[in-house]
Amino acid sequence: MIKLIPKPLYINIINNEKHKINHITLGESLLSRGAKDDFLSFCNLPQGEANIIFETDSSLEDEEYTIITGEKTVIAAAGMAGQLYALQTLKQILLQYNYAIPQIEIKDKPKYKIRGFMLDVGRYFFSVDDVKLMIRKMAAHKLNFFHFHLTEDQGWRIEIKKYPLLTEKGSMRAKTNFNSKPHGGFYTQQEIKEIVSYAHDFNIKVMPEFDIPGHSRSAIACYKDLTCFPRDLPVADHWGVKHDVLCVGKESTIQFVKDVIDEMCELFPDGYFHIGGDEVPKHRWDLCPHCQAKIKELGLKNSEDLQCWFMNEIKEYCKSKGRQVFMWSWELKDEGTLDTDLGFTKCGEMNTGDRPFIDTSSKAYYIDLPYGYISLKDTAEHKPFEGNCLGVETTLWTEYVPDMKKADLMTFPRLGAACETAWYGKCGWNSFEPRLDFYYSYLDKMNWGYAKPDMANPNSLRGRAQVLWFERRQLAWEGLTNIFDDKKIEKIAKSKK
Ligand code: ACM
Ligand code: ZN
Repeated sequence: MIKLIPKPLYINIINNEKHKINHITLGESLLSRGAKDDFLSFCNLPQGEANIIFETDSSLEDEEYTIITGEKTVIAAAGMAGQLYALQTLKQILLQYNYAIPQIEIKDKPKYKIRGFMLDVGRYFFSVDDVKLMIRKMAAHKLNFFHFHLTEDQGWRIEIKKYPLLTEKGSMRAKTNFNSKPHGGFYTQQEIKEIVSYAHDFNIKVMPEFDIPGHSRSAIACYKDLTCFPRDLPVADHWGVKHDVLCVGKESTIQFVKDVIDEMCELFPDGYFHIGGDEVPKHRWDLCPHCQAKIKELGLKNSEDLQCWFMNEIKEYCKSKGRQVFMWSWELKDEGTLDTDLGFTKCGEMNTGDRPFIDTSSKAYYIDLPYGYISLKDTAEHKPFEGNCLGVETTLWTEYVPDMKKADLMTFPRLGAACETAWYGKCGWNSFEPRLDFYYSYLDKMNWGYAKPDMANPNSLRGRAQVLWFERRQLAWEGLTNIFDDKKIEKIAKSKK
């Protein structure tokens, strides 16, 4: 049995007689320099006459390819994307057969248009090189959609020329969850361009996320008028949902948001934009004269509706710039008055009608969570939500992920199962499990870290221990801080009446 991850649509062994490959040379193709280097450094064999031939077949779909291996390996594709994915498959074949391969025929194309991975660089900053490495890891899994979570309570990560404080001050937290050292970092606009261009080399589109109106403490720390009751608040130095969110009742806040979007859209040309919308406590809005006036002016019922209005407004603004727009469905019980063309990154089962969404199930694809919550088996068994599903996205939140080493441990092997659902349309543990040993050998070859089987599918005792460790860290003074803060604001609001 040939073991490939993700599984290809069709595979056939034409002739089992093995052909030894002693050199690898790529024929003429549309591949980027980066993609070619990535492949050749994997193979690490002497160069010779081209023995991997690329044929253009414009009858194939964009990401579709066929491979016939043999003395010469012939790859047919319509363009760069299919060529790239053929090479990813070929890497696995070469490794598996130790460069003595049978004659194999593969015809392959993806089920979903969007095959995503989200990296939260807000809680912890990841360097340009780290992000590029993550892009190569995505490509190896035939993913094509990088969701770049760039703004958070704990850090602002993208240079915005109109608001220099965002990075001068907003990119630095005084301490982290793990130690009392300051932590920070940001990408210059030049570096963002470099990352986007690198992603394009690997057929990956980039969707930036500007998380609003919640998760905005790093911006509020720089420009305090952005919140309802302006006062000096630091960049958040601990996890937890913050009660000080953007004041959407002020015209100046809306202008700020649009200004940031203007600059971000210049840097991210791929046609997608994410506006957050998750975890927005309404404590301040309920008391804020600006927000209450806005609710009255618009004839809205309450602060919940005010958020729907805000999301719709900002969605329209991004849409006017040609973007398809997404927000989190995270704590939504229903769709409220959100426009139906506002897409969801959908975290759980809920009725979303015809609304487009990307499946980011918090029970399968929240890979920051311990394996005791989401085992490898759970990820493999998840079936995409019914409805207008554009694809599947794995999300790596980083409250507990301070570096790439931990990122690898949480990501692999779960990404192997997730990418199979994204590419092949389904996975399933019984199908995946017999290929797991090969997948580990592939990760070893790449030198990418991972959770071993007894951690990835923990027994109940071990699973509970992982969860307890996670929860123990979650328990924090942050909840208390919110309560004291709320009391203070209530007093101020009352005195102003
Ligand atoms: C989320 O999990 N806060 C989207
Ligand atoms: Zn307000």
